[in-house]
Amino acid sequence: MPKPTVSYICSACAAVHKKWSGRCDACGEWNSITEEAPLSAGPTKKSLGADRGRAIALKDLATEETPPQRTKSGLSELDLVLGGGLVPASALLVGGDPGIGKSTLLLQAAASFARAGLSCVYVSGEEASAQVRMRAQRLGLSDAPVKLATETNLRDILTTLDKERPELAIIDSIQTMWADNVDSAPGSVSQVRAAAHELTTFAKRTGTAVVLVGHVTKEGQIAGPRVVEHMVDTVLYFEGERGHQFRILRAVKNRFGPADEIGVFEMTGRGLSEVTNPSALFLSERDKPAPGSAVFAGIEGTRPVLTEIQALVAPSPLGTPRRTVVGLDSGRLSTTLAVLEARCGIPFAGLDVFLNVAGGMRVTEPAADLAVAAALLSAREDVALPPDTVVFGEISLSGALRPVGQTENRLKEAQKLGFSHAIAPSRAKAGGQTGITLRHMTDLTGFVGDIFGAG
Ligand code: TYD
Ligand code: MG
Repeated sequence: MPKPTVSYICSACAAVHKKWSGRCDACGEWNSITEEAPLSAGPTKKSLGADRGRAIALKDLATEETPPQRTKSGLSELDLVLGGGLVPASALLVGGDPGIGKSTLLLQAAASFARAGLSCVYVSGEEASAQVRMRAQRLGLSDAPVKLATETNLRDILTTLDKERPELAIIDSIQTMWADNVDSAPGSVSQVRAAAHELTTFAKRTGTAVVLVGHVTKEGQIAGPRVVEHMVDTVLYFEGERGHQFRILRAVKNRFGPADEIGVFEMTGRGLSEVTNPSALFLSERDKPAPGSAVFAGIEGTRPVLTEIQALVAPSPLGTPRRTVVGLDSGRLSTTLAVLEARCGIPFAGLDVFLNVAGGMRVTEPAADLAVAAALLSAREDVALPPDTVVFGEISLSGALRPVGQTENRLKEAQKLGFSHAIAPSRAKAGGQTGITLRHMTDLTGFVGDIFGAG
């Protein structure tokens, strides 16, 4: 039977289908199936020889392999997110919206690593050399010892990299690369997958650390299949709100360090500058305490970060009131509203609710529940929360408050920023030496009564 000339691949999960359909059976995603040429149009690779796949007893590994030697870039926020520096032979994926600053970040990173002594090659598939040069000039990096290549043909790039054998190679972006043995357009699932596979294999084989830049689709996924995320060791997302100058580099997967670590940057006229004290930055726009505002003492990765949670509650002209959330999970807002209504008798029916994390930050910790509830109640009752107070704690469906981890760190950070009181679930260990007065709460009803004199 002749081979089919096209196949249908889901761009979300890379499942292959016999025919097109509106919804992928494998992952349930709508409108994700695209028509593509089948893989393996090119010659198959020979085995690399028996020695390459040699198995070694675990106890013998210690003597044969030394732990990876990390290199620090000197950009402390980047090093933090990487888990202490760049690991040789690792493959990284840096995803983000177009225009968020990925190329800027990576050019700065390349220059920093080059100045730290690594040989670096920056491959730009999107911009001409003149454009990259102009950017380097603007960033004050014209004299950085980084080699630049403008190329999109994967075969040529691999040949160049094989010749140069740099310690760091940056591929900007994976969507512009095309392998000539794959018969579909650059940016398609098969091309992205083939290029990512070749480049990560190159990293493992030669010891070069390879950074792949990937654009994300409007649904927030790396364009092309999720499988690219599985191929690499580390996945970083570069995120930020359009109107804000703050940018957050977040590790969503890291084989060599803690996931969920964030690095905070500020986009300036001369590139990205590091923000080493994110709490001060996120709270810097805060006016005097107003109804609807609560300061959440959170933990991002390994360090505490204070953010302001803002809520607005207004009578709704609509049959189904609006629930608009920026920077938080909308599911958790619904849960918190339901718990407030069912356990504390405070209804939000007929009211529009807007919830926002100030500064373009995204908060994913369940410990933010109590701060969200505090902001919502404060907005609804039109009562400002006590000033100089931070809030944290998880709310369970019964309305009980659950203690969260790292109380001490949260309190220390709050004290550093001039706060003197904290509201937290009971059993949270008192921060004895932090000098913060801790108000313990056991359940949401008690919290409402105590803070708002209602319930
Ligand atoms: P860029 O790195 O090209 O984004 P990406 O590679 O993610 O598509 O950054 C583009 C934006 O950054 C652009 O809108 C201009 C802005 N920018 C600055 O504000 N300052 C700078 O020094 C540079 C280089 C860019
Ligand atoms: Mg770019």
